Amino acid sequence: MFRKKYFNVILVLGARPQIIKSAPLIHLAKQNSEIHFDVIHTGQHYDYEMSKVFFKELQLPEAVVNLAVGSGTHAWQTAQIMIRLEKVLRSKKPNLIIVPGDTNSTLAGALVAAKQNIPIAHMEAGARSYDMSMPEEVNRRLTDHCSSLLFTPTENCTKNLLREGIEKDRILQTGDTMYDVLLQQLPKAQKSHIIKRLGLSPKTYALVTIHRPENVDSPRNLRKIADSIVHLKNLSVVFPVHPRTKKQLEKINVYNKLREESHIKLIEPIGYHEILHLTKNAKVVLTDSGGLQKEAFWLNTLCITLRENTEWIETIQRKANYLTGADTEKILKTVNEVIEKEETLRKGLVKLPKIFGDGQASEKILEAILRFH
Ligand code: UD1
Repeated sequence: MFRKKYFNVILVLGARPQIIKSAPLIHLAKQNSEIHFDVIHTGQHYDYEMSKVFFKELQLPEAVVNLAVGSGTHAWQTAQIMIRLEKVLRSKKPNLIIVPGDTNSTLAGALVAAKQNIPIAHMEAGARSYDMSMPEEVNRRLTDHCSSLLFTPTENCTKNLLREGIEKDRILQTGDTMYDVLLQQLPKAQKSHIIKRLGLSPKTYALVTIHRPENVDSPRNLRKIADSIVHLKNLSVVFPVHPRTKKQLEKINVYNKLREESHIKLIEPIGYHEILHLTKNAKVVLTDSGGLQKEAFWLNTLCITLRENTEWIETIQRKANYLTGADTEKILKTVNEVIEKEETLRKGLVKLPKIFGDGQASEKILEAILRFH
């Protein structure tokens, strides 16, 4: 049967996790002769370690356009992406736009497409923390509600969308593309030498990452988290520092103090293979990142989430993840409890059902897009 040769699809990304979670779909779509598939980079992340390194490691083709928006306030950044993207979409005239995740680039991409009546597909739809003070919660809710195709990573995400009145036939539970990419890249990640390079051995260190505004932009919370890791003396601590976190730690005069602690290793942001390697071999992960909570879960490493809530409640329900907020006492107490019961808890994890799909989410997304065509 004759099919129209080109179905013109554009995927808009801009921040570190979006590059990772889109990688398997980009590879599949680029190989498919039925669609013309382009990637537009908003430039939200622009440092080598925040963007280019992931294109390199995941062997992704360069974006056809980089909007080079850079950093700014939320309104400024979102608005600048919209203004610049509007022109590009007007000339490229895509039949569908794909937006992954929940960043300012996601929302800006969805709004511009909606205003030009271009159908939107949202990857990682339906995630909810029910905390509207998080910029990501605003971004994902609004994006979900103007999308024609909503690809959900878990049953819980599907239920969230149905509860909000989104029609069933717009939702497809595909599983999580972050799980796809993790399975594909794990063999390479296992070959990383980062632990040796840092002078560590497996299961003797905590991996720490923080970047959320509620922790980093609040000097009080940032101090409390810094205090917790200073007191984690029974473990080494590896802390890849996000650029915004570094700026804020320097501002409150804590960066150098952390550097002076012999059990803490402050390092630059690292690539995908290295973070997987460090996560897999950590005794425990302490993070406020949504992606890292899931990666720890998939790699059977216990996680402590430095937030009051999480969109990935599946990991909490299965005792793989513990919420502590930025409360020093609670963090230290939870780390000790988790380490004490680590073996029993980890045994339970290995038997967990595949609630994030079967590692083929990206295939299902591509099929759904072709059906939509
Ligand atoms: C963004 C996303 C967040 C995602 C995270 C992954 C939003 C609202 N947030 O947060 O959901 O989990 O990316 O990292 O979209 N900076 C640099 N170099 C860069 C990028 C940023 O120095 O390449 C610094 C700038 O000072 C910037 C700050 O980091 O102001 C914050 O960057 P921004 O893109 O606004 O948000 P993230 O905190 O990275």
